[in-house]
Amino acid sequence: MVGLPIAANIPLEHRRSVLCPQYRRVKVWRSEGKGLCAWRVERTDGPLAGHRRRNAIKAAICRAYGPPEVLQVCDIQQPVPKHHEVSIKIHTAAVTASDAIVRGFKLARWSPMGLGMGLALGFTRPRNPILGNILAGEVEAVGRHVSRFRVGDQVYAFTMLRFGAYAEYTCLPESVVIASKPQNLSFEEAAAIPYGGLIALHFLRKARVAAGQKVLIYGASGAIGSTAVQLARYFGADVTGVCSTANMAWVQALGAETVIDYTQEDFTKRDERYDLILNAVGKRKARLACQRSLTPQGKHVTVDDGNPKIRTEGLLCLNEVIGAGKLKPVIDRVYPLDQIAEAHRYVDQGHKKGNVVITM
Ligand SMILES: NC(=O)c1ccc[n+]([C@@H]2O[C@H](COP(=O)([O-])OP(=O)(O)OC[C@H]3O[C@@H](n4cnc5c(N)ncnc54)[C@H](OP(=O)(O)O)[C@@H]3O)[C@@H](O)[C@H]2O)c1
Repeated sequence: MVGLPIAANIPLEHRRSVLCPQYRRVKVWRSEGKGLCAWRVERTDGPLAGHRRRNAIKAAICRAYGPPEVLQVCDIQQPVPKHHEVSIKIHTAAVTASDAIVRGFKLARWSPMGLGMGLALGFTRPRNPILGNILAGEVEAVGRHVSRFRVGDQVYAFTMLRFGAYAEYTCLPESVVIASKPQNLSFEEAAAIPYGGLIALHFLRKARVAAGQKVLIYGASGAIGSTAVQLARYFGADVTGVCSTANMAWVQALGAETVIDYTQEDFTKRDERYDLILNAVGKRKARLACQRSLTPQGKHVTVDDGNPKIRTEGLLCLNEVIGAGKLKPVIDRVYPLDQIAEAHRYVDQGHKKGNVVITM
C-alpha cells in the first residue's frame, strides 16, 4: 500500500482540518514490519474521492444520534485486515433492539447507563459511524497471525462495541465472538441467532435454569424471548410464554407448554408459581411485580440486569443446540441494506417477532 502525503487526500477546503470528523489518520507502513512511512488521511463516512472508488464498499453510516433517517447508505473504503484480523464479506446483519437504542441514544444522557454509553461510544455521535453488531458472512482474507479461520470459512459473529456490521465488509480480530456458521442455516437464518441466543443463554445460565423447573418467559415473541423459550425447553424446563394474541400460536410451536396473552390476562393473578421468571422485554417497558408468582426459592431476572457476558463459547454452545435441532431462527422481516432506515423504524416500534435481518 502506498502512503500518500496527508494533503493529497483531502479536498482543498479541508486541508487544514485534519481533525474534521469525516477524516481519520491512518498509519501507512512501507512494507509489513519495515517501519512507518507516513500518515495517510482517509474519509470515514462520505462518498469516496475519485481515485479511491476502486475499493469502495457500501455501508450504512450514522452521522449523528437520532431518528432512523440518520442512517445513510454510502460508499466507504474497504477496510484492510491487520495481522490478527479476519476480513469478512458480510452477507447479512441483524437490526436489533440494542442497535435502535444506540442509533437514537435512547438513554438519559446523565444516567449511569447513559454516561457509560456516551463514554464508550461517543456523546454527540457514534465514534464508529458504522453500527450493527450481528453479522453472518464469509472470510475473504486473513491477517498473518490468524489461526482460527481460513479464507472461505462461513462464519457468524457478535461484534459487540466494535459494531461495523451494516456494511459489505468488516475486519474483526479473531479473538472477538466469531464462530463457524451452522451448516444447516442460511446466512439470513444465521444472522437471527447470536443476539437473542447469546443474551438469552447468559440470563438463563445466570439464573441456573435446570431440568424440571417451571420457567416463565415474559416477552416470549421478541428476539431474546423467542430464543429463551427454546433454550429453556432445551435445558429441560417446563416453559410458559407470555406474549400478545397474534403471537400465541407460534410461541407455542417454539416449545412453550402454556402461553398467556398479556393483553387479556395478568399472569401474576394466576395461582401458578414459577422457579424462574425471565423478563425478556426489559424493565424500561415492563416492570413486573411478580414476587407472588415465584416459588420460595424462585428467581426473577430481567434482561436489563447488567451487561450480559457474550463469549465465543456461548456461540459454540448455540451451534450444538442448533445442530441438535432444538433451536430455530425466528425471522420477522428481511430488508436490503438500502432500506436500513425502514428496518430501524420497524424495530423502534418494539413489537417485532423474533429478528429483523438486512441483506447486503
Ligand atoms: N442488559 C442489556 O445489556 C440488554 C442487551 C440487549 C437487550 N436488552 C433489552 O432487551 C429488550 C428486549 O430485546 P429484544 O431484542 O428481544 O426486543 P424485541 O425483539 O423488540 O421484542 C420485544 C418484545 O416485547 C414484547 N412487548 C413489547 N411491549 C410489551 C409490554 N408492554 N408487555 C409485554 N410484552 C411487550 C413484544 O411482543 P408483542 O409484540 O407481543 O407485544 C416483543 O415481542 C430490549 O428492550 C433491550 O432494552 C438489554
